[in-house]
Amino acid sequence: MSMEIYYFSGTGNSLAVARDIAEKTKGTLISIPAVMDKQSIKTDADNIGIVFPSYMAHLYGIPLIVERFIKKMEDIGSKYIFAVCTCGGLENFNGLPTLKNLGKIIKSKGGKLSAEYSIKLPMNNLDYSHIPFPIDQNQETMFKNCKNKIEVICQCITNRKKSKYKIVKSLLNWLMTPMYLMLHKVYLTELKEKSKETKDTKLKYYELMPLTDKSINADEKCNGCATCVNVCPVQNIKMIENKPVWQHHCEMCLACVEWCPIKAFINFYPEATIVNIGCGLDTTFDRIDNGKITWIDLDLPDVISLRKKYIHETSRRHFISKSIFDKSWFAEIKNREHVMFMIAGVLYFFNENDIKSLFSDFHSTFPGVEIIFDYCSNKGIGIATKRIGNINPTVSALVSITSSLKRLTIGISFVSGIRFCSSFAACNELPVPEK
Ligand SMILES: Cc1cc2nc3c(=O)[nH]c(=O)nc-3n(C[C@H](O)[C@H](O)[C@H](O)COP(=O)(O)O)c2cc1C
Ligand code: SF4
Ligand code: SF4
Repeated sequence: MSMEIYYFSGTGNSLAVARDIAEKTKGTLISIPAVMDKQSIKTDADNIGIVFPSYMAHLYGIPLIVERFIKKMEDIGSKYIFAVCTCGGLENFNGLPTLKNLGKIIKSKGGKLSAEYSIKLPMNNLDYSHIPFPIDQNQETMFKNCKNKIEVICQCITNRKKSKYKIVKSLLNWLMTPMYLMLHKVYLTELKEKSKETKDTKLKYYELMPLTDKSINADEKCNGCATCVNVCPVQNIKMIENKPVWQHHCEMCLACVEWCPIKAFINFYPEATIVNIGCGLDTTFDRIDNGKITWIDLDLPDVISLRKKYIHETSRRHFISKSIFDKSWFAEIKNREHVMFMIAGVLYFFNENDIKSLFSDFHSTFPGVEIIFDYCSNKGIGIATKRIGNINPTVSALVSITSSLKRLTIGISFVSGIRFCSSFAACNELPVPEK
């Protein structure tokens, strides 16, 4: 029996779940945005899975693109359809209303939602201060539970089992209706604020959602890296004069906010320390400062004395005149919990063993440190050498730096890589959607 798993994912949770289910069931993984240009969607597969995040569960729950996708599906009456919604809050409390609404949409197309599941994963809705109780975000437990749940889901769907407790779920949904109605108001107010509409606007949920990007505009801190453009699943962002401009057909998935490279870290840890290693005359701090972070610019003494001519130290921006390998600078970083190292245009000049030992020292001194660095393949070095001459004979040692960092058994994990010279679709882990 053939299986197709359709998914929509903003920040990557639902992609990870869909990918895992597809692998385990030998199903075909299909990105929903990638098929949306079709007039109608027909499939020969006997089993269809839909994996997506829950948005504003008690108001509606279904991302607009998922609804549009289902409405394009044809001849689904005889198919076994299952759905998995990922959510950041309580699994059942958020999954129940979301999946109920999904079932209705599928029914309106003549199909039946035979099995439904929800999985709790990290909350990507950065601002959830309106939720009146604490949200447990222990990632280790979450990922373990998610893995176990996926095992159970795969066993059920390969046997085309129907959801258990259908009647209990309906009853619970019915009982919870007053609570859902109370939350409607909260969510609608949030939507109106985010879409910059007035409180008395007559615009509905599906009209407000696309406008919510009005509250995500980039400011003067943006460095024009275009990561947001590339992660947006619905091509809602254009680069105009090196700045992203949002086009107001947003799905509110927040991928552009979460994956904005420096903003994301600062959003989570507003009082973090960021060390800009090999800073030269870089001015990133001026663009991303949130008024709370501590910023350290580190470079060799002659570079720092040149820097001092143009850029000044402040109470939150300090200079250190030392080599990256002179470990005495570690003691000058007081914050040991939320630290990020930016290392740009530096590692090319050292060999693989030096870099490995440096990363190992970083890890033992600053457990949990996040490191952003650039590196270059042999091919890249070849191109650079052709264009600008032999930049340094030792750079070829970096060829295997990422794979050797991956192999380090010191607890560093390699989260994602983005290729400079090719399209973002080729990158490793960033949840870049197929478009
Ligand atoms: C606009 C928005 C609204 C959300 N609303 C809810 C919600 O009502 N309940 C909930 O449990 N999670 C909510 N979340 C969290 C996401 O459902 C959750 O983090 C999901 O796993 C993200 O999936 P993704 O990484 O595939 O985009 C919301 C996220 C966003 C961006
Ligand atoms: S603009 Fe941002 S929030 Fe809106 S759909 Fe694109 S990535 Fe998601
Ligand atoms: S990802 Fe952030 S820094 Fe990069 S272009 Fe977008 S808004 Fe600017």
